[in-house]
Amino acid sequence: MSKRTILVTGGAGYIGSHTIIKLYEAGYDVVVVDNLCNSSEESLQRVAQITGRQVPFRRVDIRDRAGLDKVLEEFAVDACIHFAGLKAVGESVAKPYEYYENNIGGTLVLIDALRSHGCKNIIFSSSATVYGNPAVIPITEECPKGHCTNPYGQTKSMLEEIFIDIQKADPEWNIVLLRYFNPIGAHKSGLIGEDPNGIPNNLMPYITQVAVGKRAELGVFGNDYDTPDGTGVRDYIHVVDLAAGHVKALDAIGRKCGLAIYNLGTGHGYSVLDVVKAFEQANGVKVPYSIKPRRPGDIATCYSDPAKAARELGWKAEYGIEEMCRDSWNWQKNNPDGYKG
Ligand code: NAD
Ligand code: UD1
Repeated sequence: MSKRTILVTGGAGYIGSHTIIKLYEAGYDVVVVDNLCNSSEESLQRVAQITGRQVPFRRVDIRDRAGLDKVLEEFAVDACIHFAGLKAVGESVAKPYEYYENNIGGTLVLIDALRSHGCKNIIFSSSATVYGNPAVIPITEECPKGHCTNPYGQTKSMLEEIFIDIQKADPEWNIVLLRYFNPIGAHKSGLIGEDPNGIPNNLMPYITQVAVGKRAELGVFGNDYDTPDGTGVRDYIHVVDLAAGHVKALDAIGRKCGLAIYNLGTGHGYSVLDVVKAFEQANGVKVPYSIKPRRPGDIATCYSDPAKAARELGWKAEYGIEEMCRDSWNWQKNNPDGYKG
């Protein structure tokens, strides 16, 4: 779309902070709203260090309608990239109400605030988790959605349906649902990256914390899957590539795409042990591990067919597993305690 102002919800978070850099590089202005429940304002200071631009930030919860209205009155927003949400799978099983209320309740408030200010353009952070245990590999967007084993996944799947219904009823909306595969890596400066609270749930932050000496060893969750080495296979994607995909999705909104759904992945599957090996090789550090039981809810294999995004958005992941491992480590070793350090 023509270069205007983008509301970035959840912009202080991992993917949001990387996306702001790409938006600035592409000539957009941004305003960030975030309640900082899983992030710190320091990430935006770091973005300012990288880009030379102070990021306009309002500490607002997306469930706070009056707060959103105030931001939308202050800034003439042309489109929204909606990252804000809770994302810890295990926590969502323990606190389903909080996940539905924050993710679904918050998104409904956001949608109504946007349309009442005349903005009907939004990009939503969905997830490959909506495919459940995928019916086909590699996964195309036509693959039927599957059963999500946890409330977090359910919020993504339900929100997709909500967006589809809203766009059907009001075709003035342009809505892009981006189904992310497994984002890892960090900006090459090492100034921003993933900063999980407590014990990491996801593979790469766990590996980097083992490598930096904060945890003794990685537990590999199962080696008896039907995969080449028995460990789970995923489509890891560099967060900077993922961020670039959002800029391409804004172009689609500019072309009045209506409702569009894209996988954002590389199309390559790597096992847990492939990632451990790649990390050790790229960085010359050891990652001790031991085999543990399977993690409930995990699937054997999940990787994308990214052809639709290549064809329609002109987007393709550029970075490989080596760069992902190098940049994850560069961030972790320079910031052993994340933004708290
Ligand atoms: P993140 O936790 O780093 O960022 C999310 C941000 O949203 C945080 O800064 C948090 O403080 C903010 N937030 C949460 N609830 C809010 C609310 N009610 N009001 C305002 N701000 C709120 O997570 P991320 O990894 O950057 O993920 C961004 C989005 O992408 C999320 O919606 C997530 O579910 C989705 N996603 C992430 C992954 C992944 O592996 N990281 C994969 C698929 C989809
Ligand atoms: C997980 C979520 C998924 C979410 C995605 C976001 C579950 C069941 N699924 O997916 O809903 O969209 O994160 O990125 O949590 N692994 C280990 N040891 C670890 C951590 C992970 O062996 O300490 C393995 C897992 O079993 C899996 C692979 O590493 O095979 C990747 O795990 P993870 O990073 O948690 O991502 P997903 O399971 O794909």
